[in-house]
Amino acid sequence: MTIEPSRAPSMSQTPSLSETGFPKRWMSTGAPAFVLALALCQVSFVGANASEGVAKLPVMGFNTWNAYQAGLPEDIVIKNANLMVSLGLADAGYNYVNIDDCYAARQRDSAGDIVANQTKFPSGMKALTDSIHALGLNAGIYSDAGWFTCQLYPGSYQNEERDAKLFRDDWGFDYLKYDNCAVPFDNITRQNIMGRYARMANAISDLSQSMGKPPLILSLCEWGREQAWLWGRRYGQSWRTTDDITPTRLSVAGIINQNSFYSWASDFYGHNDMDMLEIGNGNLTYEESKTHFIAWALMKSPLLIGTDLEVASNQTIEILTNREIIAINQDPVVGTSVTPFRWGINPDYVSNDTHPAQYWSGESQNGTINTLDEPATMFFNLTESPWIRAGRQYSVKDLWAHSDNGTAVRNFTARDVPPHGVVALLLRDAGDEPEGLWPPCAVTEWCISQSGVRID
Ligand code: GAL
Repeated sequence: MTIEPSRAPSMSQTPSLSETGFPKRWMSTGAPAFVLALALCQVSFVGANASEGVAKLPVMGFNTWNAYQAGLPEDIVIKNANLMVSLGLADAGYNYVNIDDCYAARQRDSAGDIVANQTKFPSGMKALTDSIHALGLNAGIYSDAGWFTCQLYPGSYQNEERDAKLFRDDWGFDYLKYDNCAVPFDNITRQNIMGRYARMANAISDLSQSMGKPPLILSLCEWGREQAWLWGRRYGQSWRTTDDITPTRLSVAGIINQNSFYSWASDFYGHNDMDMLEIGNGNLTYEESKTHFIAWALMKSPLLIGTDLEVASNQTIEILTNREIIAINQDPVVGTSVTPFRWGINPDYVSNDTHPAQYWSGESQNGTINTLDEPATMFFNLTESPWIRAGRQYSVKDLWAHSDNGTAVRNFTARDVPPHGVVALLLRDAGDEPEGLWPPCAVTEWCISQSGVRID
């Protein structure tokens, strides 16, 4: 069997279509020892990206769920909105206040509209969003692509247009988290998950056009069950990639591990959502909380605070407002996530929920995460990261301590990284490395002089 070497198509080249409608270069010509199950369906995108042009960067804000679940009355929401301003969180970039499930009455009203629970929201939703807007913040609401939400309040299935209008136009919200519980029977939907999400995406898009206002930001919440990282950006600006977070080290480690395999999917206008932050909740240690925050920020996840800000410790606020870390999450020039360049404790590409990949890098920054249970010395060669140039040296800045850590030539060692801790480093090009270093290539494989003398 001969296999034609693959050639990368140039950006301007559109692959030619075969008679079946598939690009020719994807067609199998031999008999490989694996099965490719191609769903031969007519590929029609059920709804375009409804909200193009909004949420270029990961959304930052506050969400009620992790701290309060069903106990989210309006005074709690307003209290946290005010604290976002007074604690400096709004200044640091947190500018959404989002209410989650359990705000509604169990039944729609006789006109068919969702009704806010009057005990929890006696002033009504419009008054709530007015108060949030008056603080210079945006407001977010929650619904579900099925008959009910996960706590069995009304979902938006078959009411997408009505609900989009209620949320955006009548109530004044700017953002919608859209869950995936209580899905209708198959003989009703005759759709896949994309079709169900497309219904709301289209309603949002149509409404935006008719109102002449920016669309609701749409945050998809299907917990990674159906690979939303592959298609989520067609419909919304973020998509959950994993199950619900809990305030434990193992939950944080598992989410980092799983997202390490999809980190390529985040970029401007569409982000893997690693779930709301648990910093300040449960028994996360300082080091674990730092790791949690740095991983979420550098992997370009939305950063939604999930703790009661009234009792948040100074340490919690300090972590949440680390501006050098936030600056990377909110980088207006580089939209992509950090990705692992070496797994470390595991062989590369091995999935391990308790010990995720340890060495990560990305454009404009370089970071390592220590998931060991003991303090560790962590060493890496600079050019293990694809973003580092051979033959150059780099100044090193610690993004947590805000200290300058000298100049790295060819490699860097972070000593005594605490258990479950993290070191986040910003490496800046500092010119040519010193002359005369040996070996002449930092990576010696296929290192060769112009006259053909191989070094490796
Ligand atoms: C889950 C979702 C949580 C929260 C909860 C509310 O499906 O992942 O973040 O929104 O529903 O019932």
